[in-house]
Amino acid sequence: MDFKVTPARIEDARVTVPGDKSISHRALLLGGIALGRTEITGFLAGEDCLATLAAMRALGVAIEQTGADEISIAGNGPEGLQAAAEPLDLGNSGTAMRLMAGLLCGQPFASTLTGDASLTRRPMGRIVKPLTMMGAAIESDCDGTPPLQISGGMRLHGIDYVMPVASAQVKSAILLAGLYAEGTTSVTEPAVTRDHTERMLRSMGADVLTEGARISLRGGQVLRGCPVRVPADLSSAAFVMLAALLAENADVVITNVGINPTRTGVIDVLKSMGGQISLENQAMLGAEPVADIRVRSSKLRGSEVDPALVSLAIDEFPVLFVAAAAATGTTVFSGIGELRVKESDRIAAMAAGMRALGIRVDESPDGAVVHGGRFTGGTVDSFDDHRVAMSLAVAGTVADGEVLVRQVDSVVTSFPGFGACMASLGAEIAAVEGSVDA
Ligand code: S3P
Repeated sequence: MDFKVTPARIEDARVTVPGDKSISHRALLLGGIALGRTEITGFLAGEDCLATLAAMRALGVAIEQTGADEISIAGNGPEGLQAAAEPLDLGNSGTAMRLMAGLLCGQPFASTLTGDASLTRRPMGRIVKPLTMMGAAIESDCDGTPPLQISGGMRLHGIDYVMPVASAQVKSAILLAGLYAEGTTSVTEPAVTRDHTERMLRSMGADVLTEGARISLRGGQVLRGCPVRVPADLSSAAFVMLAALLAENADVVITNVGINPTRTGVIDVLKSMGGQISLENQAMLGAEPVADIRVRSSKLRGSEVDPALVSLAIDEFPVLFVAAAAATGTTVFSGIGELRVKESDRIAAMAAGMRALGIRVDESPDGAVVHGGRFTGGTVDSFDDHRVAMSLAVAGTVADGEVLVRQVDSVVTSFPGFGACMASLGAEIAAVEGSVDA
């Protein structure tokens, strides 16, 4: 499918967006090895999390979908998993693959992890190396990409690992393996990354120590199933925030969104560009802070984005490229090389998209300079990347002509109902049959 975006007026609205992807994955993985029942509400039933759900079922965990966003897991404890009959297909999801590898490398049985064309191009050396240091036996393709063949029956031992790349996926993989390791496992991050794993482990009764950038846990701890209430995903809310900011005169509230401080870089960057964003009704939803995010249309100004915010806004750079392109002046992004190994090369994908809509972008290996202007109409490619597709669609809402975003099927990995949500704001984003090889 493609998105045909017709410029339209964004209206005042109060909207909800689906549940947090990172937290939904973790609830399935941790609930699946906990003892007792884990009831998840607000679960993101997007393709990425459904791939994790299917994988956990294939590993013998009894998981029921009891409602559109409700899941019930009957956990059998840390030794409750069984060998899957087939390779586990994790679709498009890097989180699923990396966290699963951590979980499975200490099991008594072998597993094979694979995925789609995008996932099988993504680097796995970053988890294979520390997990191997812990005693795991994992084979990847010779260039360090999936599929991963994980041998079972290895005895793991704790390590004290300093991560070369800031990655919550790597941190989480090591901590999950650490649950099955002898002794204590510690991991030190070069920059703060999302801490949902640590929070959920603690909610399930584990002792997890955070001392500055170093996170440690003892092996052999048994998790206890518990209710998990998943907040709305800030990474999905970011598209709505962008549409509201760029609109003529809109006042939009997105309700019950996760505002974990390890995720809110996008709010800080947009505010530093002049975005009027406020947090209302702040509260805790289980272990995670939430708020209603109120966004008013704003005149954005270019800015030099603080590299310290990169790991706190890692998935929102496609949105920030569009904000930068619509701002007055120049925006400088630096230290964003990790974007090149996401679902697509997001620096290249967004630069191509912005250029096709009349915006000048100068790219460097780990950065970009975006020269603000006005979007023309045009045809742009999503590179099969959900966040690129949605960011370009939002650009289309304020373009001077129609924007066709090619190949948007991947949007269902993280934001099922994106079109309907945007329509509730007044946007005209029609899913049309794609002309794939045209
Ligand atoms: C995620 C971590 C991030 C992010 C991804 C989800 C997670 O990846 O890009 O969408 O749930 O842990 P890295 O930690 O590898 O940067």
